[in-house]
Amino acid sequence: MKKNYSNLFKPSKKTISKTISLLKAKKLVAIPTETVYGLAGNAYSDIAVSKIYSLKKRPKKNPIIIHYKSLIDSFKDVEINQNLLKLFKKFCPGPITFVVKRKKNSKISRYAHNNLETLAIRFPANKITKKILKKIEFPLAMPSANISTQISPVSAEDVYEEFKNKIDLILDSGRSNIGLESTVVDVTNNIKILRPGSIGIKEISKVLGKKVYTAKSPNKIKSPGMLKKHYSPGIPMVINHNSLPVDGAYIVLGKKFIKNSNVFSLSISSNLREAAKNLYITMRKIKNLNYKKIYVAKIPYKGIGIAINDRLKRASKK
Ligand code: TXA
Ligand code: MG
Repeated sequence: MKKNYSNLFKPSKKTISKTISLLKAKKLVAIPTETVYGLAGNAYSDIAVSKIYSLKKRPKKNPIIIHYKSLIDSFKDVEINQNLLKLFKKFCPGPITFVVKRKKNSKISRYAHNNLETLAIRFPANKITKKILKKIEFPLAMPSANISTQISPVSAEDVYEEFKNKIDLILDSGRSNIGLESTVVDVTNNIKILRPGSIGIKEISKVLGKKVYTAKSPNKIKSPGMLKKHYSPGIPMVINHNSLPVDGAYIVLGKKFIKNSNVFSLSISSNLREAAKNLYITMRKIKNLNYKKIYVAKIPYKGIGIAINDRLKRASKK
C-alpha cells in the first residue's frame, strides 16, 4: 500500500517557519536531532505538553527532556551546577542530557517534570533544530517521536509509521546520525549514568576527573525510561544468540551468515558506531517484513556497544 506522506516536509525557509508557527500555536511537530527524531512542543505550555503525553500514550510519571538553544537559556529553569558546566563545555551541543536541580520559579509545564525536584535538559546539535530553537522564545519539551515503549524513530518515515497524520508536520532531514537516544547523566549529587549513549562513561569520568557509575538497582533508578520494557519491536527478541536461527530474523555484526536471507548485518565491517546507527532501522525493517521473532548476535560490550546492549536488553524484556 502506498503511504500518504502528506505531512512530511523537507526543511526549507517556508517549512521551518511553518514549524515555528505551529509550535507557537501550542501544536506538536516532529523534528530531527542527531540522536533520534523528537516529538516537540512548547515546554512552557500545559496544553502542548499534555498533548505529547496523550499522543505518545506516555505514562504521566515519566518526565520529558527539555531542549534549549543555549546554556544561559537553561539557567532560567535550572540551578547552575559545576559538573554541568564541565560536561557542557566538552560535549555540547551534542548527544547528552543532564539531570539537574530545577528552579522553584521555573516556568516549565508541571506535566513535563511531574513535580520532581530535577529537570532533564539537553542541547541538540542538529542544525535545523538549532535554527528552530533560536527563533522561538521558549524551550522545547521533546521525547523521542514514537508511541511509548516502542522503537525510537531515526527517520521522518519512521515518525510517520508511529503517528501517521496525527501530527501536522514532520521535518524530514534524513537519517539521524547517531541513531540511539542521548546519554542521560544525573549530575546533581553522586554523578550517575541513567541511560548509556554514544558519549560513554569513560569520557564523562575523564572530563569530571572522577569515577562515574551507571545506575543499576531497579529500586534506585531515577529514570523511569530505564525501568520498563522499552525500545520494543513488538515481537519477541532473543539476545546473545550465536547460531543461525530457522524461526526468525537474525541481526549480526560483521559478515558471518549474511548470505542467508533472514540475516541482517548492522555493520559489515563490525564498526560499532555504524551498528548503532543501523540498529533501530533494522529492527523496524524486520518487523515490517513480518518476521515473528528476532534473534541478535552478541555485541561487544565496549564504547557505544554498551548503549547498544542496553537497548537490546530492554527490547528483549518480556
Ligand atoms: O536523544 C534523546 O534524548 C531524544 C531526543 C529527541 O532528544 N529524546 C529522548 O526522550 O530520548 P525520551 O523521553 O524518549 O527519553 C527521556 C529519558 C526517559 O528515560 C526519562 O525518564 C528520562 O529521560 N528523564 C527525563 N526527565 C528526567 C528526570 N528529571 N530525572 C531522571 N530521568 C529523567
Ligand atoms: Mg523514548
